[in-house]
Amino acid sequence: MSSATNITWHEGDVSRDARAGVAGGGGATLWFTGLSGSGKSTVATAVERALVASGRAAYRLDGDNLRSGINSDLAFSREDRLENCRRVAEIARLFADASVVSVVAIISPYAESRELARRLHAEAGLPFVEIFMATPAAECAVRDPKGLYAKVAAGTIDSFTGIDDPYEVPEHPDLAIDPATSVEDAVALVLEALERAVG
Ligand code: ADX
Repeated sequence: MSSATNITWHEGDVSRDARAGVAGGGGATLWFTGLSGSGKSTVATAVERALVASGRAAYRLDGDNLRSGINSDLAFSREDRLENCRRVAEIARLFADASVVSVVAIISPYAESRELARRLHAEAGLPFVEIFMATPAAECAVRDPKGLYAKVAAGTIDSFTGIDDPYEVPEHPDLAIDPATSVEDAVALVLEALERAVG
């Protein structure tokens, strides 16, 4: 039996425009994808700060943070990563529908997850921007902000994305950020891409 059996959608009577008026603008999702250590969280944090400073409601949905709460039952198998990304896509869509700019920072290694997130937003009429942090694994391993690549080298972590677990490089991201880009420049590029998507 489908999980949607005997479920009835209940329409509210607050319009998206009314919510946008309260939130300082319409909602959207900025979806950062890339390897661990590629700069997703750093740029996402700066983007969230810039949006809120400009009077726009924004909220960061970070893979590591969500894995300590709503996704704490999930590990790093392909199946769990797909479910992790599906949940984050649904949460991001809810925030965007509530007129918040969702700033997602999650490896999301599989193209099908990113496509699902894009489709969920398109179906809901919400802007979606896919941002690929194009930092190669070798450079992420040098940066190693959480010491995880050292653990991989020491053999204490396996199935690590980009080392011994897949990362499907986005073929058509809305924006790709080169590792040489400063955080300040990256924020400007992301905000421009957001304004293009919001149109
Ligand atoms: S995803 O693959 O399901 O999208 P997510 O972004 O939520 O991943 O979580 C990745 C974070 O978990 C990494 O930034 C890192 O801190 C941690 N991590 C722990 N084990 C792994 C692993 N095997 N592969 C990738 N990241 C891991």
